[in-house]
Amino acid sequence: MCGIVGFVGRKRAKECVLSGLYALEYRGYDSAGITLKIGDGYETVKCAGRVSALDERLRGVGSDASVAIGHTRWATHGEPSERNAHPHESKSVILVHNGIIDNFLSLRASLAEDGYSFKSETDTEAIVHLIDREYAKTKDARLAIQSAASMLVGSFALAILFCDRPSEIWAVRRNNPLICAVGAEGSYLASDIPALLPYSREVLRPHDDEILCLTEEKITLYQKDGTEGALSFETVAWDYEMAKKDGFEHFLIKEINEEPEAVSRTARGITEGGLPDFSGIGMSGELLASFDSVSVIACGSAYHAGIVGRMLIERLAGIPVFVTLASEYRYDPPITAGNTLVVPISQSGETADTLAALKLAKERGAHSLGIINTVGSAIARESEFVLYTNAGPEISVATTKGYTTQVASMYLLAIALAHAKGRLTGGEAREMCELIRTEVPRAIRSIIDRRAEIRALAEEIKSAKDLYYIGRGSDYAACLESALKLKEVSYIHTEAYAAGELKHGTLSLITEGVPVIALACDKKYHDKMIGNIREVRARGGFVILLAGEDLEAPSEYAERVFILPTLEGIFMPFASVVFSQLLAYEVAYILGCDIDCPRNLAKSVTVE
Ligand code: AGP
Repeated sequence: MCGIVGFVGRKRAKECVLSGLYALEYRGYDSAGITLKIGDGYETVKCAGRVSALDERLRGVGSDASVAIGHTRWATHGEPSERNAHPHESKSVILVHNGIIDNFLSLRASLAEDGYSFKSETDTEAIVHLIDREYAKTKDARLAIQSAASMLVGSFALAILFCDRPSEIWAVRRNNPLICAVGAEGSYLASDIPALLPYSREVLRPHDDEILCLTEEKITLYQKDGTEGALSFETVAWDYEMAKKDGFEHFLIKEINEEPEAVSRTARGITEGGLPDFSGIGMSGELLASFDSVSVIACGSAYHAGIVGRMLIERLAGIPVFVTLASEYRYDPPITAGNTLVVPISQSGETADTLAALKLAKERGAHSLGIINTVGSAIARESEFVLYTNAGPEISVATTKGYTTQVASMYLLAIALAHAKGRLTGGEAREMCELIRTEVPRAIRSIIDRRAEIRALAEEIKSAKDLYYIGRGSDYAACLESALKLKEVSYIHTEAYAAGELKHGTLSLITEGVPVIALACDKKYHDKMIGNIREVRARGGFVILLAGEDLEAPSEYAERVFILPTLEGIFMPFASVVFSQLLAYEVAYILGCDIDCPRNLAKSVTVE
């Protein structure tokens, strides 16, 4: 949530910070702002709305500025308005902030007593005055930041300008992401990699409470004890091209198109000789075999990937799996007995609830395996072992390849556990991995190639007020993700129901013409699903049936039918969810929604 960017150097700072803000817009787009060092002073320009509105306002301003910090906001404290937009300033300090300060009310009160007045409703304004107050005491920037940080409760990543230090940007973080890099033209900092990719792939990730000073020539890192620390840069595997739209109209559709290769890459990343090989990430066969339960913690789509994973692991490895929303787990973790493997799943690796839940699980002594896309992210660093999903950068707020690669990773974990426990032979395990590496990507591609058919279905449901997805077993797990996709990008109210639950309440919502997308992909449930579909149609529901090629006479059961390539039952969620992702895209497109940046959302949820 919120993206921050900073640049100090020879290049045009405005250009560089603006391009960084555009690249980070997926983190929040309620307001945007920038402070530029122009001549002897600083000029701050901000506005409610998107970075493009800020860009517009900056026409003709500060083109030769050499220092700038910028911000794109996802509002937490205070409405999305110009007044609450960052940067915020005090007498001698200007800063941008990503995070939440829990004790801001008491800080505000104490600062008000010291004569500071507040212009915004934000928690951030307390930080800027606090640093200003501390700086006034010693005129030592590092000490001022350190002392202010010690009084902050919550999470923050800050880029700070001291008005009497015109060639420096200072920064500090705690529980929120911040990376920096030195390029040919100066030093850069940002919340996330896409903002830095045009300039450098060598990035430095400070630890919590380490303080950075960026100048044109170098970065200095101060450790918690105040001493200078060594700079350790890591090379990012992603490149600039990967983070661009590549001729597609939206990131969402680009990323759907990348799914076949992404899923295959997930499998290639962890297989050796065709078998899942977790020893490369430090997990021996003995360790895998020793787990007698798995506890998944995740949010949103990642949680849905966990539900698919539960079915697979229980079916293949024969051990119980608990899937808990991280926001619930962190306050009420399930009781697990024996040797439990805790599996946080996260595309961004930054989700605050997932991180907190993982920390709690570790305190309780559990082993942890993170299923993460973003290399070096907070959850990856906190996890004992990490299985990277290798999806590549995902920019669209609504996840697509992020989700399917999480599901693929859960399959690979299920296969590895089952093999380690002797429940799958090498041959069987190899065959399943091969399916994920080749057949699943082929099936996904064949659905993407039928976009025109899906667009026609989108035309038929675009005016719906409510829509329901129904299914059983792994189809129900796929329904959960399908419904989330449609509601988040098209704003059509969509719910997922286990088909057997309909008559326990939901059926009262089905009236003439209400669209119901029924998933009958798993053969095991064909008869039961046909019964549930009949119940829906008897009440006037407009049924769109998704099924594999093995369902006989499908057109008898529904108004519309979309036949998916048949994969073995447990692999069908890949096919059905990709259909739903495309359907959501097409509906949102027809309705003119802001597809990559749906209202009120942000991609990395770094606040609770
Ligand atoms: C879904 O499209 C969303 N982007 C959201 O539900 C997301 O999956 C959730 O916020 C978890 O994010 P993470 O995978 O980065 O932890």
